[in-house]
Amino acid sequence: MLFDRVKSLDHILESARTQGLKRQLGAFDLTMLGIGAIIGTGIFVLTSVAAEKAGPGMMYSFVIAGFVCALAALVYSEIAAIVPVAGSAYTYSYAVFGELIAWMVGWALILEYAVAAAAVAVGWSGYINGFLHEIGYGLPLALTAGPRDTIVLANGTTSAGGFNLLAFLISRFVTFLLIIGTTKSARFTAILVIVKIVALSVFIVLVLPAVNATNFEPMLPKGWGTPASGVGVLGAAASIFFAYIGFDAVSTAAEETRNPNRNVPIGLIGSLGICTIFYLIVAYAAVGAVGAQPGGELSQSKEPQAFVLRPVGYPPIGNWVASAAIIALPSVVLMMIYGQTRVLFTMSRDGLIPRSFSHIHVRFHTPYFVTLVTGIAVALFAAMFPVVMLADVSNSGTLFAFFMVAMSVMILRRREPNLHRPFRTPALWAVGPLAMAGCALLFISLGWGTIRLFLYWAAVGLVVYFGYARRHSIVGKEQAG
Ligand code: ALA
Repeated sequence: MLFDRVKSLDHILESARTQGLKRQLGAFDLTMLGIGAIIGTGIFVLTSVAAEKAGPGMMYSFVIAGFVCALAALVYSEIAAIVPVAGSAYTYSYAVFGELIAWMVGWALILEYAVAAAAVAVGWSGYINGFLHEIGYGLPLALTAGPRDTIVLANGTTSAGGFNLLAFLISRFVTFLLIIGTTKSARFTAILVIVKIVALSVFIVLVLPAVNATNFEPMLPKGWGTPASGVGVLGAAASIFFAYIGFDAVSTAAEETRNPNRNVPIGLIGSLGICTIFYLIVAYAAVGAVGAQPGGELSQSKEPQAFVLRPVGYPPIGNWVASAAIIALPSVVLMMIYGQTRVLFTMSRDGLIPRSFSHIHVRFHTPYFVTLVTGIAVALFAAMFPVVMLADVSNSGTLFAFFMVAMSVMILRRREPNLHRPFRTPALWAVGPLAMAGCALLFISLGWGTIRLFLYWAAVGLVVYFGYARRHSIVGKEQAG
């Protein structure tokens, strides 16, 4: 039978208790982790992609993507408080839909976290390479972008890159930090979060007064967009959705959280709320101050935040904001790799991937082996591919996972109405279906190339499931007696 391997909630909580990670994070730590994971390449780099796809209408894209994430955060909070264990959407699906769907969700989460980590590393490399170039220590161009990316040569022509060295190295460095310990990394993250918040606040204060109504015309140069076209307001929303990803990484830390029933919803909703407010104002200010027509200067910039500050009269501050991105984006890489390792850790504990992935380091108390393997994969992705492609692929996996989580929460309400729910999604029967519809809408608004990659990835996932995971599953072995 394909759908009979359901893991009971009691069983999930029990395996977390007996083989778990140390509980050491509080509500503030989680909110910081959330913001640390959310503000990153999306706002610092992909704003220009959104301008190219939608023009000034990208403001609507920010609103749409933010709205879908807010709905997702509301449903996430309910289930994360009931099942406060590492593994997030994967674990929830195991309890509700059984092993096959849980596997597919876990498999999609590899796109969400590992590929997102690579995307952010590439976004970071754009800023640091620009900086090194400014001070006369620029790397050879072939080492600034991967073979699937393009570089602009001195004579103005373009060519393929070679190996994105700095994106590769930052991924390796962050992996090292994670292996030596969560607490230290979380503290490091908190400092960097402050740097990002200050940078965006300074941006808002300086740029808002320069807003000019003529810059909003024409508002929708590419319209609303059509399915699988990847352009227009919806196409931009599907890409800029990346800017909001990360709040769910809070739920992957649930098993390391004190009083998770209270702290996880606070961390999820708090971090997303704070970031959404910043994004909406930043997007409005950027469009209003310099304009955002496709093909225009903002849409072509690799460092849009710094770019906006220069023409409004603050070039040195523009450079300072660029340095803030350089200092802070690694914290996002850190959170994404962290989230990935916790999902894989849980899948390994369930026997679906080899047991070695859940080994914990005796001295550092971290799942070192899975962190090492994830870090190597992220570094290689980062070295090879362009940021937009990685971000879109990551979005496809995330949208699938969010869709399944919304469905799980609704099914669980029906199936186990009396379960203790420390946090209840308000108006679930409206919020849940809307969250699913929003995810589906953004998914089909991605470009066809991305959707196709997602389908290939899912097909490979099925092969691995039937070739390995299903035969090694702990639940399967228990059921067989
Ligand atoms: N939301 C994160 C970012 O924009 C992934 O970098």
